Amino acid sequence: MAHRWKNDLTHADVTPEQTYLNRRQVIAGLAGAGLAAAAGPLSAETLEPNSWEEITTYNNFYEFGTGKEDPARYAHLMKTEPWSVKIDGLVDKPGEYSFQDIMSEMTIEERLYRFRCVEAWSMIVPWNGFELADLLAMAGVQDGAKYVAFETLYRPSEMPGTAYRTIDWPYREGLRLDEAMHPLTIMATGIYGKPMPNQNGAPLRLVVPWKYGFKSIKSIVRITLTEEEPPTSWNQLAPREYGFYSNVNPTVDHPRWSQASERRIGGGLFSKRQPTLMFNGYEDKVASLYEGMDLAKNY
Ligand code: MTE
Repeated sequence: MAHRWKNDLTHADVTPEQTYLNRRQVIAGLAGAGLAAAAGPLSAETLEPNSWEEITTYNNFYEFGTGKEDPARYAHLMKTEPWSVKIDGLVDKPGEYSFQDIMSEMTIEERLYRFRCVEAWSMIVPWNGFELADLLAMAGVQDGAKYVAFETLYRPSEMPGTAYRTIDWPYREGLRLDEAMHPLTIMATGIYGKPMPNQNGAPLRLVVPWKYGFKSIKSIVRITLTEEEPPTSWNQLAPREYGFYSNVNPTVDHPRWSQASERRIGGGLFSKRQPTLMFNGYEDKVASLYEGMDLAKNY
């Protein structure tokens, strides 16, 4: 990869929650002493990743129910060992890749990303993970591949929410190949330096920080390189409400609500609604992917 930026928020190798909290106190102390500038170009947002508690108890994972608290309550039923990811389609080395083998090949980094759900709430999450591009390189992407399709585990005996046909299981998502190869796109394997909790999509889930959260598919068991745009769950369910692209865009409203602002989970300093940023704040890094496209049509 030619350039490996992290993102515009702060990062560290693996920062446990307590270290974040301590750092925040240090910065607050500096600010009190009129020395905030010494801490570097950090905005207030930089200092406020959501807590472990918030990130792991307010979730969307319909395989365990549609309530925000259902995943934390039921996702322990999902067995995540052993785990393997089938990589197939237009790749040189198709096959079942065990989670351990993947982890032994990948470099785990921390990415502190904004996370914006299409429902207009948001969090800031300190993910751990690796670039999806590195995993795709391991499998060898063939000429002719234009899209990447993803599938979540579908195991009804361990997933009480799948008794309801809210979604045509398994949950499916997809990206254009250049979106998948973008250095901001990661496969997350942890939060706050701990292994990914089941409710957040253990053992590995996609994170595409400039797109609405539903693109960030959880507990992935299959990745397929395709020539055609793959079908995706929310688009199949309500095509007029959820497009294939689903880039965060404050100027394109959901048919039933505004996307101009969002509610940051966790309250405190950020309890009032705040403006939603174009591409969720990653515009300078990703806008070029969509040059010449009508983003209102390609929603
Ligand atoms: N992946 C699967 N398999 N099933 C889901 O219901 N929900 C999506 C996405 N990935 C979902 C999923 C939605 S709508 C959001 S907002 C995020 O997961 C929520 O991620 P979080 O619970 O880690 O915040």
